[in-house]
Amino acid sequence: MPLLPLQFYLPNFLDLSYDSPKRIRDDSQRFWEMDYPLARLSSQLMQTTLVRYYHRLYVDYPDIHMKDMTQEESGPGRRIRLDGRWVTNFGSDSFLGLDKHPAVLEALCLGIQKWGSHNGCSRAFSSILANEIAEARLASWLKAPSVLIFPSVTLTNLGALPALLTRHDALVVDQYAHHCLHQGAKIAKSQGIQTATFQHNDPDSLEMTLAKLRPFRHAIIAIDGVYSMSGTLPPLIEFQRIAKRNHAALYVDDAHGTGVIGERGRGTVLDALGNYDNTLVVGSLSKGLSCFGGFIACNPQIKFALKVRSGPMVFGGPVPPPYLEAISTVMDIMESEEGLLLLSVLRENMEYFNRLALEAGLFPKGGIGAIASLLVGDEMATMTAGKLLFERGYFVQSVIFPAVPHHQGILRVQITAIHTHEQIKGLVEAIASVVEELGLSGNSKDSPNQLVHTNP
Ligand SMILES: Cc1ncc(COP(=O)(O)O)c(C=O)c1O
Repeated sequence: MPLLPLQFYLPNFLDLSYDSPKRIRDDSQRFWEMDYPLARLSSQLMQTTLVRYYHRLYVDYPDIHMKDMTQEESGPGRRIRLDGRWVTNFGSDSFLGLDKHPAVLEALCLGIQKWGSHNGCSRAFSSILANEIAEARLASWLKAPSVLIFPSVTLTNLGALPALLTRHDALVVDQYAHHCLHQGAKIAKSQGIQTATFQHNDPDSLEMTLAKLRPFRHAIIAIDGVYSMSGTLPPLIEFQRIAKRNHAALYVDDAHGTGVIGERGRGTVLDALGNYDNTLVVGSLSKGLSCFGGFIACNPQIKFALKVRSGPMVFGGPVPPPYLEAISTVMDIMESEEGLLLLSVLRENMEYFNRLALEAGLFPKGGIGAIASLLVGDEMATMTAGKLLFERGYFVQSVIFPAVPHHQGILRVQITAIHTHEQIKGLVEAIASVVEELGLSGNSKDSPNQLVHTNP
């Protein structure tokens, strides 16, 4: 039987328009009139800057905003049906395409059969064997001393940063590091740890910032391994030199480098520094490795300390068992010839995109791992460009504030190993035609390299 529209499968009472922005506006008016404290709170929330900004976007520009869409079907390869239209997805973090790999899907099913849908308690009490095996397999693949898995990279950073330091210590964060590193720093600050930000990828600013924070006992320098909006990398060698002469350690959130950068995809740190001396690496299980969760690679003392000091580890639940089982299968793939082949196809696809983009007069940032960004600038132009690409059969994320600074909107292209050359060529041609059609000037050789994750 052919697939019917999604609504056919939903119970009648489930009205998908219930949460529509228009309805939210009407409801907030109604709740305000009811005058309960919660009603006042809801209405006041609707007046906060970011909510007003996005609400206006949804209500005033329903045809171009490309936010809050519904993926109704996932087809073969990178084809998806998004808000009723079949498009090629260039917004997927599953960089090696392992989300569709038969062995990974089988491992997920086996994991459910073996352990059920969840393991029932915090890891402070017990961990299922699959969790311990997954950590050992990750450590062996990374060539790291040990690994501790958290339910996400966000929870890794929120949990580890405050737990690693005490009130005698300091934490400095790159101004454009991922939002969750800054959130982790806020929690650390609330516990009396000195915190500061330094200018993006700037060794001088890092050194000055550390100098200003003295005296401290230890410091941690928190940065991204791959900046997720620009696809660019930090100057790890210089940062490590600065760290070592300032009683500091590096803490690298390599969410987008895990499974992608370096030999066998072991990440940016091993690739740039050749070892993990004086460095903690956070990686993602949900992106290149197509499972679920985050992890920190560290020495056994730190692993032990985090298991007892880190809030999400002690008071929160773990990654569900099927995903823990699948991690071992993903490790089998990463250590096999097939893993090497997938990585080489991904790299070849990225190079192909970069080459075609340059030939078409486009100047993407990044393009080293699996992310390349094209600066558009103006918010309306960025959203219109995304919409036109969508209508031509390609989904790329059109990213605007707060993920990037105001007026630095980007088209963020994520390349995977299961894109075909034909799809990549089609995308570049579509981008070039949209750039011409809209007269976009932001993308040039000289455009500022500031495509970042801002922290409102
Ligand atoms: C550098 C970085 N850290 C953390 C995250 C969030 O990861 P998670 O979804 O596992 O919390 C992302 C997501 O894109 C990221 O790019």
